[in-house]
Amino acid sequence: MDHATDPASPATASPGDPLALFEAWMAEAAAGEPNDPNAMCLATVDAEGRPSARMVLLKGLDARGFVFYTNLESRKGEELAANPNAALCFHWKSLRRQVRIEGPVEAVTPDEADAYYASRPRGSRIGAWASRQSRPLTSRAELEAAVAEMEARFPEESVPRPAHWSGFRLLPQRLEFWRDMPFRLHERQVFHRLAAGWRTEVLFP
Ligand SMILES: Cc1cc2nc3c(=O)[nH]c(=O)nc-3n(C[C@H](O)[C@H](O)[C@H](O)COP(=O)(O)O)c2cc1C
Repeated sequence: MDHATDPASPATASPGDPLALFEAWMAEAAAGEPNDPNAMCLATVDAEGRPSARMVLLKGLDARGFVFYTNLESRKGEELAANPNAALCFHWKSLRRQVRIEGPVEAVTPDEADAYYASRPRGSRIGAWASRQSRPLTSRAELEAAVAEMEARFPEESVPRPAHWSGFRLLPQRLEFWRDMPFRLHERQVFHRLAAGWRTEVLFP
């Protein structure tokens, strides 16, 4: 296909709006990836500037940014509280595409976190209470005992959201759309946020 008219090309689809382009790519991924098309690698840094990365799930997206949920006392939660600068990376293997997103995070509102928490299965809501995410676990039995304790504490269907469990919204300052092309002459289009709108540039592969 002629590259300039290929609707999947970042240069063709929504040239001025990276979030619309992201949504178009995500819709294609959702239709084709075998599982978790919304999985993304989240990178944070510690107090010494040392990076760490792990997968999380994208659970919300609007013009403000990219939302994920986690335990605020986890390693990532502590790191983001101390340094809000973060990066996300999506890789859709079957599409051979990558999207990189960078910017600071902000906390989602308690109402947003409550709404998403309430949408999760009861077992996941109990798990959020039982798991001291990222801290040492002596045995699987310790975790199972914590789950049993929380099931007894919250016998009703309704389980309140723990104060230590909420979400972050990454406010994109830079997005890069990468698309596989023959002979590794890949296509890379970058969007930099301006006071109003976006500046775009294309990079050598
Ligand atoms: C596909 C996938 C999706 C995941 N989604 C989440 C998520 O949305 N939130 C979360 O806290 N952990 C998620 N995890 C687990 C994290 O990768 C990680 O193990 C955990 O959050 C602890 O990370 P930390 O010690 O760096 O804080 C996911 C793991 C995988 C493989």
